[in-house]
Amino acid sequence: MPLPSSVLVVGAGGREHTLVRQLLASPAQPRVICAPGNAGIAQDVPCFPVAVDNIAGLVALAQQEQVAFVVVGPEVPLALGLVDELIKIGLPAYGPQADGARLEASKVFTKEILLKYKIPTAAAGFFREVAPALAYLRTRPIPIVIKADGLAAGKGVVVAATLAEAEAAVRDMLGGKFGASSSQILIEDCLYGEETSQLVVVSGRDYVMLPTAQDHKRIGDGDTGPNTGGMGAYSPAEVVTPELFARIEREIVRPSVNAIADEGIDFRGTLFIGLMLTPTGPSVIEYNARFGDPETQVVLPRLATDLLALLWAAARGELAGVKLAVKPDYALCVVIAAQGYPEAFPKGDVISLPAPSALPPATFIYHAGTAKNPAGQVVTNGGRVLGATALAPTLAEAAARAYAACDAVQCASKYFRRDIGARQLNRR
Ligand code: AMP
Ligand code: GLY
Repeated sequence: MPLPSSVLVVGAGGREHTLVRQLLASPAQPRVICAPGNAGIAQDVPCFPVAVDNIAGLVALAQQEQVAFVVVGPEVPLALGLVDELIKIGLPAYGPQADGARLEASKVFTKEILLKYKIPTAAAGFFREVAPALAYLRTRPIPIVIKADGLAAGKGVVVAATLAEAEAAVRDMLGGKFGASSSQILIEDCLYGEETSQLVVVSGRDYVMLPTAQDHKRIGDGDTGPNTGGMGAYSPAEVVTPELFARIEREIVRPSVNAIADEGIDFRGTLFIGLMLTPTGPSVIEYNARFGDPETQVVLPRLATDLLALLWAAARGELAGVKLAVKPDYALCVVIAAQGYPEAFPKGDVISLPAPSALPPATFIYHAGTAKNPAGQVVTNGGRVLGATALAPTLAEAAARAYAACDAVQCASKYFRRDIGARQLNRR
């Protein structure tokens, strides 16, 4: 099959802006469109105002625009069965069907698979009732982790430092804090170590491991404060040595891909494995069924391989034998958020962006939560607003470039961490 001549990218964040730009860079020169997109994506390709949870609307858009391929960014349309619907009308799509998306949409489902196939992961119990959950808590070491089963926009996990905090989290979640998403919870032992994100392009039993990456989840410098979707990322993650990379493949990636296939799931999309590098080895924190954000912003620009060909091969079941070419450069992304994120934050603040020619070399500002106001100005429209990303021969230079871009952005509610990459830079 020749490569598709047109692609619809579904989503509206920095991840999707990165996907759009990498697809536009394909030698096949596809026509790329996006739904719903954001102000930055709209500068690059036509955007259509169809929301990511409007499955019928997205299918209709793909048909109207006669695209040959759909690449799905976020988890919500995957969990709602967008890819199942596209397959029904014969349209190839990158991203798992709803059965595969359950690996992200249900933490209980994933934990059961991890335990059944003896893939390293923290011990856990599952609960629907408060009393047995509280009784279980008293049998486990503290700190302990309480997780809502379902999707909770990244907020459904509490790492409780005390028994009282753990009990409160149990009561909150089983009391309906996240609606149906927390009608069942997991209580999981705490893992200790450094976290790393392993993105894997999967097609049935075939897979390609993407370059290593780490993100910074906490809102504040020094990895302090509440968890967020991710405040910055870098690639490669040198904590993952070539030996450890091989071990992660052997102990985690290959068994995971095989387990998913053995469960009867024909997974064609990104398996994002959140790992804790514990003193006794890598352990799975979670699976996501999509590219990570902001990991995508640092992993994809490092690929010398044509992204369109890679995703198309995965969607078509033709991934066997595909090898990646990776640039030697380091990549680093600093997320610019709206002050107040991950709690309440303002929307509609005017953003003044530097001209691309005023940015350092190999530096680009991806848009995440941006929109245009009626006056045509770019304004904030989400918690994570922009992602300043740079490639460079060293991580320190990539950081210097990305931070120069951050400093050149003007916005009243601008907030970003000053220490993205510090973990790795300070290790030298
Ligand atoms: P998750 O949504 O499962 O990725 O959890 C969000 C974050 O909570 C992770 O990125 C970790 O920082 C933390 N976390 C989750 N599970 C554990 C665990 N078992 N031990 C320590 N930290 C955890
Ligand atoms: N950066 C973590 C995520 O995409 O969930």
